[in-house]
Amino acid sequence: MSKILITYQIPEAGEEKLRGAGHDVTVHEGSALIEPAALAAALKEYDGILTLLTEKLGADELAEAGDQLKVIANYSVGYDNIDVPAATAKGITVTNTPGVLNDAVAEHAIALLVSLARRVVEADQFTRDGKYEGWRPQLLMGTSLTGKTLGIVGLGRIGSEVAKRAKNGFGMKIAYNDLKPNTDFEAETEATYYENLDDMLPEMDAISVHVPLLDATHHLINADRLATMKESALLVNTSRGPVIDEDALVMALQNDVIRGAALDVFEDEPKLKPGLAELPNVIITPHIASGTIETRSAMAELAADNIIAVLAGEKPPTPVTK
Ligand code: DGY
Repeated sequence: MSKILITYQIPEAGEEKLRGAGHDVTVHEGSALIEPAALAAALKEYDGILTLLTEKLGADELAEAGDQLKVIANYSVGYDNIDVPAATAKGITVTNTPGVLNDAVAEHAIALLVSLARRVVEADQFTRDGKYEGWRPQLLMGTSLTGKTLGIVGLGRIGSEVAKRAKNGFGMKIAYNDLKPNTDFEAETEATYYENLDDMLPEMDAISVHVPLLDATHHLINADRLATMKESALLVNTSRGPVIDEDALVMALQNDVIRGAALDVFEDEPKLKPGLAELPNVIITPHIASGTIETRSAMAELAADNIIAVLAGEKPPTPVTK
């Protein structure tokens, strides 16, 4: 029996699996996030820890981990909160939860795109505010998605699901930028590959961002790049906040450099950059793209499976550690 800490209450399926495998499971109590000091203590006490994407485990924190700690299972596909080489150097396997959240995140990206194009949030507020005085030919006109081009920045599992939904569901044309082309994806979606992001951005009617947060992707969408986009462009981000320079985005939106943006993630989460929430051409959701009952349960089970495998000396289903 190994000692496992779950740092925040997750759907029960994960906890049940861990207990079912005979482990001694502790769930960090209360509605508050675990304090860094408590997490540091846990690194010395537990054999496995199931972490949230908001919990930073950098080289300094991991240097203090005890020899008993064998696995850190991050409850997300992104793992920019963990210094994986530092964990590896300490003999700790890091795992994440890819795959099971593709559909949910893609659905949310599409929901944001459609809502932005058709001004759904703005129109809802308008109606609630009692401003609707009857049908008018040009009331709150949006923009059609059919026939427009969606540029996917980062064609991973989620980006390609967004592209398929945009093409098959809305008749959009697809373009994408990634390190290399994907011929199978092109055959399926008739997508156009852009090796260079700077060539793609000015051509797009909408952009959906799906790159992981790395040094190379920090502020990938900056003021200079925003300035090259169409004035009518819509920007959606469900990846990580710092991929977009949020101050530059606020300025671009204030000055009609692009038409609108929908963000599920923010540069200084949970804080928003000044001015963002006041903009009518912005939709903001609180990092819920993977937040469906089905998906969050599947993530919990996958994180548990990863812990169980590592502690049994087996290869986990979805390791980040090579
Ligand atoms: C992830 O998994 O990285 C998302 O941001 C949360 O599900």
